[in-house]
Amino acid sequence: MARTITILGGTGPEGTGLAYRLAKAGECILIGSRDAARAQETAKQLRERVRGAQIEGKDNPSAVAACDIAILTVPFSGAAGLLKQLKSVWKPGTIVIDTTAPLAATIGGAATRVIGVWQGSAAEQTKELLPAGVHLAAAFQNLGAESLAGDEPVDCDVLVCGDDEKAKQVAFELVGKIPGARPLNGGKLENARIVESLTALLIGLNMRYKVHGAGIRFTGLPLK
Ligand SMILES: NC(=O)c1ccc[n+]([C@@H]2O[C@H](COP(=O)([O-])OP(=O)(O)OC[C@H]3O[C@@H](n4cnc5c(N)ncnc54)[C@H](OP(=O)(O)O)[C@@H]3O)[C@@H](O)[C@H]2O)c1
Repeated sequence: MARTITILGGTGPEGTGLAYRLAKAGECILIGSRDAARAQETAKQLRERVRGAQIEGKDNPSAVAACDIAILTVPFSGAAGLLKQLKSVWKPGTIVIDTTAPLAATIGGAATRVIGVWQGSAAEQTKELLPAGVHLAAAFQNLGAESLAGDEPVDCDVLVCGDDEKAKQVAFELVGKIPGARPLNGGKLENARIVESLTALLIGLNMRYKVHGAGIRFTGLPLK
């Protein structure tokens, strides 16, 4: 049976963009939302864009209960509350990929700054709120929604951070399904704090250069 990838907060631009790219790559997608009808509407719009794609919509808990992999794409301000709500729903063995950056904008500040997170990063906060047996990696924080929305290859390295090799492997594989995205091993989950702060920097670059798709590329690595 095909694996199912749930996108928590998949009605927003980042989640919808990832859902679009992964559905185009043949993955079976479940859009998660606080409102099942909103999830179904986004799923319908995506099915219209990707012929033959398997994309459905459910409320977040139902979408988590039905998935093998979940990608967290809600604002930092909503992540802890959602994860607490989902704590008893996760199946052991589920892979979670956290895309969250703790932008100050989520609490009324500037999108060009991150706020301090007691655990060190949004991803480390997520780790604390997942039950044992659920695997976590952090990725995609620097891959903007506008780049994901189109059909052009994205022009971006994607750092994958985590302490769980299984989750990192899955994140690597999913990054590799997005044309133009190059997965890089970003090391431990604690390095997510560096990656998350780069998101704020990229938003500033987008504003200063009046573009929408600033991304990062690392040089000097023995990789294609
Ligand atoms: N936008 C980007 O370019 C980008 C790039 C890299 C990483 N990210 C990360 O991806 C995440 C989502 O970004 P976005 O721009 O797509 O955000 P968004 O549009 O503000 O939110 C995404 C979805 O999250 C749900 N949501 C909102 N508030 C919530 C709450 N308090 N509790 C639970 N769910 C809530 C909403 O879905 P429902 O109302 O349907 O539940 C919303 O459609 C963020 O953590 C961001 O740091 C974004």
